[in-house]
Amino acid sequence: MESLESVVSRALAEFVSTQDAAELERVKAQYLGKQGRLTELLKGLGQLAPEARREAGARINEAKDRIEAALAARRGEIANAALEARLAEEAIDVTLPGRGRGRGSIHPIIRTWQRIEEIFGSIGFDVADGPEIETDWHNFTALNQPEDHPARSMHDTFYVEGHDSTGKPLLLRTHTSPMQVRYARMHKPPIKVIAPGRTYRVDSDATHSPMFHQVEGLWIDEDISFADLKGVYTDFLRRFFETDDLQVRFRPSFFPFTEPSAEIDMMFASGPLKGRWLEISGSGEVHPQVVRNYGLDPERYIGFAFGSGLERLTMLRYGIGDLRLFYDGDLRFLRQFA
Ligand code: FA5
Ligand code: MG
Repeated sequence: MESLESVVSRALAEFVSTQDAAELERVKAQYLGKQGRLTELLKGLGQLAPEARREAGARINEAKDRIEAALAARRGEIANAALEARLAEEAIDVTLPGRGRGRGSIHPIIRTWQRIEEIFGSIGFDVADGPEIETDWHNFTALNQPEDHPARSMHDTFYVEGHDSTGKPLLLRTHTSPMQVRYARMHKPPIKVIAPGRTYRVDSDATHSPMFHQVEGLWIDEDISFADLKGVYTDFLRRFFETDDLQVRFRPSFFPFTEPSAEIDMMFASGPLKGRWLEISGSGEVHPQVVRNYGLDPERYIGFAFGSGLERLTMLRYGIGDLRLFYDGDLRFLRQFA
């Protein structure tokens, strides 16, 4: 029979030559498994005399301990080698240039929004925010736009599912002017507020987008005149465009909610747009019926309102020819404003 010593040394040698955990476990089974060599030897003890059995048993157990220790050691080595191989594979070359993290920037329209808030805030205007889904009454009726007014047609307005308490359909506000009514009904005069926000119309070309931004301005007190509108708005434009070198013109126009009404045009004295009148905003003295819809007495309270397109202001400030660039999400365009 093979000597115990040679069984042990053969086991140790075979363990060392194994390359992976599965092979090691197969070799282990040949020695310590149910039919392994050592197990067979232990089984044979029964035939020995008690004295010899004790002595042989002790030697076999000692051999088993050595084999198990060698097995554990080899298991550890194989596990370490596997870990090292993985680490080497996943190693990071710290000398490579970093990938960097993309730095975001503020969208040019939002920059305009923020600047408008700053400028009007500095002359005492409050900033208000209101719902983009509006009632028919706030968007049209309260602003003196009768049922058959063309602006109310399906063609111009996005109606949404749902109805207000009077059964009229809800809609995406077509302008920020309903905020005049909402704000004035919640505050006592003097009312001095701007309300920037998103607005929606069925409209789409190089200068019109179905979603766009307006800022509403409203100043109501006992004596706020058209002259105040001219002063405030001209001052705003000079600060917004950072030049005193521009002309402003109030061109007679029509809005159902103002009387008199005017389009505000401006002209730069220099630069690529020099010498051309550019329409910027609608405006006017608030119509007495609208003041009444604010819940105020039009015999006592009077003032102006304006509604300006933020896309338009932004295009003029940066010389952008197509408003759709704002919404394409092209980083080459947007990064220029970072
Ligand atoms: C109005 O919306 C009025 N509520 C403005 C107003 C307020 C007048 C208060 C008097 C008193 P208008 O439809 O002209 O007016 O729109 C105002 C501005 O919004 C336009 O000058 C334009 O700059 C911008 N605008 C209108 N439609 C679009 C669109 N589809 N895309 C981008 N900008 C638009
Ligand atoms: Mg207009």
